[in-house]
Amino acid sequence: MSASVTRKLFIKTYGCQMNAYDSARMADVLAPLGYAPCEAADGADMVILNTCHIREKAAEKMFSELGRLKPLKVRKARDGGRMILAVAGCVAQAEGGEILARAPHVDIVLGPQTYHRLPELVAQVTRAAGAVLDTEFPAEAKFDALPETTQAPGVSAFLTIQEGCDKFCTFCVVPYTRGAEFSRPAADVIAEARRLVALGAREITLLGQNVNAYHGEAPDGGNWGLGALVRGLAPLEGLERIRYTTSHPLDVDDALVAAHAEVPQVMPFLHLPVQSGSDRVLAAMNRRHRADDYRATVARLRRARADLALSSDFIVGFPGESDEDFEATLALVREIGFAQAYSFKYSRRPGTPAASLPGQVPDAVKAERLAILQALLREQQHRFNDATVGRVLPVLFEKRGRHGGQLVGRSPYLQPVHASATPELIGRTVSVLIAAVESNSLAGTLVAEASS
Ligand code: SAH
Ligand code: SF4
Ligand code: F3S
Repeated sequence: MSASVTRKLFIKTYGCQMNAYDSARMADVLAPLGYAPCEAADGADMVILNTCHIREKAAEKMFSELGRLKPLKVRKARDGGRMILAVAGCVAQAEGGEILARAPHVDIVLGPQTYHRLPELVAQVTRAAGAVLDTEFPAEAKFDALPETTQAPGVSAFLTIQEGCDKFCTFCVVPYTRGAEFSRPAADVIAEARRLVALGAREITLLGQNVNAYHGEAPDGGNWGLGALVRGLAPLEGLERIRYTTSHPLDVDDALVAAHAEVPQVMPFLHLPVQSGSDRVLAAMNRRHRADDYRATVARLRRARADLALSSDFIVGFPGESDEDFEATLALVREIGFAQAYSFKYSRRPGTPAASLPGQVPDAVKAERLAILQALLREQQHRFNDATVGRVLPVLFEKRGRHGGQLVGRSPYLQPVHASATPELIGRTVSVLIAAVESNSLAGTLVAEASS
């Protein structure tokens, strides 16, 4: 293969934003081999499914997609080509062997720590007939060996600064699929941020499975937490907004709280999963904090930044969760007031401690609790959105909207906002008067440019 040959690469991404970041990096690593991204699997020379293992449904989706890809692969071969089919991500890590047994048309199975070896794996399957499996671990090698991004990241870019998790919540597969916590050196993060900004990014979301546990090597040889890293990034010219996700309540330290107060680029929005409002359930989940600790953390953050909007994750129907436990979750939600949130029925994941706990909750009960919780969260989201009507918010425009003459962007609180505006304003932060709340976004009109 040589770089002059264009081969079509289709990547389908499931799961979290870290998978989205990894998909972009896989495209980067394959570019020198002549692979260019395309929009559909049909006719592609290589298809990568970047998978998620977090809940049972997420993993099932991958197997049905593999079924749909089979005839496309057969057709490609009939037309004299070859479709290399790769499964990456967390299902690959957790169920690599099973994938190859259940879906023999898969050529490559690779775990999240081995993406830099993709060219070698492609070469291997091109030479030989059989499938290859690579799910080894060391995260350090991956980041050192991945090439620099050359593709335009868009106005809002992701940057992975930390991988893995040492928390071992009893319901969660992440510590097994992504391995132990690893933080990238701050100098590498700053260099990558500088490249992203040079390529047009104006907002960077720092990513990690447990991003605020970040403790990377500092440029001066010491150690930086996330608060220090954010301060290290803030002086980058052109970088207007910094976000980070996902955080654990235990790792919100004073330096990070202070960054919310003192670094203007840090946006007043935080996704801080709590999972449950019941201390009994939190203990069984091994979350290592009580509901009151969460309340106290939110209070500290709001003292630093009064307008901080909060988002969270919730699990209903964790083994042993009683009506009273669930009521405690509703009480916490009412008290905190969330701008948005994600909520899930507990999903039993093989190999995790909670899977073998007694008191598994029947699905009907989970469904009922989920509906009640989601109604409350929806109501809070509406209230939060309604309160922005009539206000002028700085909106960073990211791209054209669905309708002609329209751009879409985000408010500081991560709300999607659309307004009539010309394309030169893409990548600019503009004052927008919020006029109405629509189903998935806010509608506004331009007031004036806030900055250029
Ligand atoms: N690192 C993050 C999020 C990891 S996964 C954190 O610490 O919160 C994203 C969300 O998926 C979790 O916050 C949790 O709410 C949900 N989740 C994880 N495992 C789950 C399971 N077995 N069943 C249902 N939801 C789960
Ligand atoms: Fe999973 Fe808990 Fe780690 Fe989050 S903190 S990734 S929920 S084990
Ligand atoms: Fe899913 Fe793996 Fe992310 S399990 S949520 S893709 S870390």
